[in-house]
Amino acid sequence: MVEGERVVGVDAGKPATVRTASGPMTADAVVLATGAPILERGLYFAKTEVRRSYVVAMRVPGGEDAIPRGMYLSIERPTHSLRTAPDPGGELLLVGGNGHPTGRVPSELAYVDGLAQWGVENFPGAVEVSRWSAQDYRSGNLIPFVGWFPRGRGRVYLATGYNKWGMTNGVAAALSLTADLTGETLDWAQVMHHRRTHPADLAAGIGMNVRVGTTMAKVWAAAERAEPDIAEEMSPPAEGTGHVGHAGRHPVAVSTIDGRTCALSAVCTHLGGIVHWNDAEHTWDCPLHGSRFAPDGDVLEGPATESLRQA
Ligand code: FES
Repeated sequence: MVEGERVVGVDAGKPATVRTASGPMTADAVVLATGAPILERGLYFAKTEVRRSYVVAMRVPGGEDAIPRGMYLSIERPTHSLRTAPDPGGELLLVGGNGHPTGRVPSELAYVDGLAQWGVENFPGAVEVSRWSAQDYRSGNLIPFVGWFPRGRGRVYLATGYNKWGMTNGVAAALSLTADLTGETLDWAQVMHHRRTHPADLAAGIGMNVRVGTTMAKVWAAAERAEPDIAEEMSPPAEGTGHVGHAGRHPVAVSTIDGRTCALSAVCTHLGGIVHWNDAEHTWDCPLHGSRFAPDGDVLEGPATESLRQA
């Protein structure tokens, strides 16, 4: 078993070759089960919408008797969900929601703070115990992409687009892929395998990519207008903050975390989006297809496979 290696490419020869940062590996079959498939073929990064959402764990006065049993999903927007989690100190209430497209809001912190506030308003006296975020992928028609990868010669498979229902869609994808690999046929899995494109799905896909194109134009224009010019500004950003400026005509992403200031190219290594500072996670997030990078530029989530370059 090999863990902790970054895969940067897959060749669908016989056997298939997985290219990693430390060298190649071969396999009879390769399953790409990452959030966004790292391979360009099939353009799945352009067929999935990427969203972040949040969960706040809260201790509610009255404990188990005061929190709803089961799981609830609101019909209002933004969506909120409620469920419970066991804890040695007593059952916790998990408040989820306030999702938004990755990298396209001014402040992620405002979204997660807003979620915590919603929890307190609806469960007076609730005290926050923990908070975290997730990144999810969904297709235009909400059906996951599972099965053979285009031009993968039957040796490369993918699974993504669970639309936040990973606990069920992930299991369904695993069963379907297992059947593919062992030569079985699962009737119910045909829905995922034989995807018909309906006009509504096509419209959803076009809408998604129009928003990506518009975002691309906006973020480059904003980066060019950005102040100050990093080359001239000597004082680093305040601790825990980051911003995009420019050095000459090149957009630069600069942040200070744990006393360390890093200045990087703000241009996403996937297809050239301008990254955005995520003030809740202290990461650089790309608003086009959801790649995320650590403050030092290291890749956290694809489809990008290369770190942000040093400025
Ligand atoms: S993730 Fe595609 S351009 Fe950044």
